[in-house]
Amino acid sequence: MVGQLEFRSDYFGDRAAFTALVDLLFDTFEIDIGQLDRLGGPDPTSMPFGYFDETGRCVANFSAFSTPLVINGRRVHAVGYQSGAVRPEYRGQGLYRDLMQRAFAWAEGQRFEFGMLLTDKPGLYTSYGFRVIKQHMFHGPMPAAAGVLPCRHLSIENDADVALIRSVLIQRMPVSERFAVTGHIEEFLLNACFDPSIRLSHMPDHDAIVAWREGAGTFHLLDIASRDIPLLAQVIAAVQTRAERAAVYFPTDRLGWTGETGRYEGSCDLMVTGDTDALLNSGPFMLSPLAEF
Ligand SMILES: CC(C)(COP(=O)(O)OP(=O)(O)OC[C@H]1O[C@@H](n2cnc3c(N)ncnc32)[C@H](O)[C@@H]1OP(=O)(O)O)[C@@H](O)C(=O)NCCC(=O)NCCS
Repeated sequence: MVGQLEFRSDYFGDRAAFTALVDLLFDTFEIDIGQLDRLGGPDPTSMPFGYFDETGRCVANFSAFSTPLVINGRRVHAVGYQSGAVRPEYRGQGLYRDLMQRAFAWAEGQRFEFGMLLTDKPGLYTSYGFRVIKQHMFHGPMPAAAGVLPCRHLSIENDADVALIRSVLIQRMPVSERFAVTGHIEEFLLNACFDPSIRLSHMPDHDAIVAWREGAGTFHLLDIASRDIPLLAQVIAAVQTRAERAAVYFPTDRLGWTGETGRYEGSCDLMVTGDTDALLNSGPFMLSPLAEF
């Protein structure tokens, strides 16, 4: 079967091949990354590895991408892996093993010092040196609101709002010095599209995009993109929430607030490989839900 397939890498320049990947991911996960067309296009650092049949259908894929991080104050040259799928009729024949090996070999050649992925099947990756690390969120009573201008609520469906969000994301500072992505523009926008419960608001005096949701008396702070991260007290004043408790889904070192630590149970495990000591020694952390990939 594999003999009838064409292997391709770095194929996003070919519109038909990219569309074939969009179809594979939609058929596998029911997510539409074709929305990237109106959000500014795919991540330019993405390095897809895939197999295509004679009709041009993408039957298997695994992608690597550059994801610069800050860990404990240090900039880290990191690689992420995503978009792993094989069409049902091609499973069990070693296609995914082949694509993983190609992607990991490519990343080794790029000298990334740290690799990460999110998965509900950690067993796929343990033999390649990945291990699951626990993630933690932070929760506690709200601080008193500090006086700032009210925010404007944005819509991910509105082109002008998308342009504003992109412009802020391009210049963002890491939301935490302990653990945060420094770029990840496409993931932020896609995650906001995929989950309609996520609200995006613009704080004018910090030129900050706040990603949040509210429920059961709790204000859930998911991410902040800005060149100047506001304090939690300022965020809650801008959003004008009446919630009594806060839950924050990234390390809170820039927020002027500390909560209790709680285990974060997402639908996927975070797996990492490489020099993980700095991360594991830096205290509880999690990858912001807007940076998930
Ligand atoms: C998981 C998936 C990508 C595997 O593709 P595949 O081409 O059938 O996998 P392969 O035949 O190349 O097998 C590769 C290895 O993974 C193992 N494996 C396959 N499916 C697995 C699963 N569901 N859970 C754990 N390990 C699995 C195989 O035993 C094999 O191990 P080995 O290299 O030690 O022999 C495919 O079943 C799929 O697309 N599933 C739905 C989407 C998904 O879960 N993607 C992964 C997201 S992280």
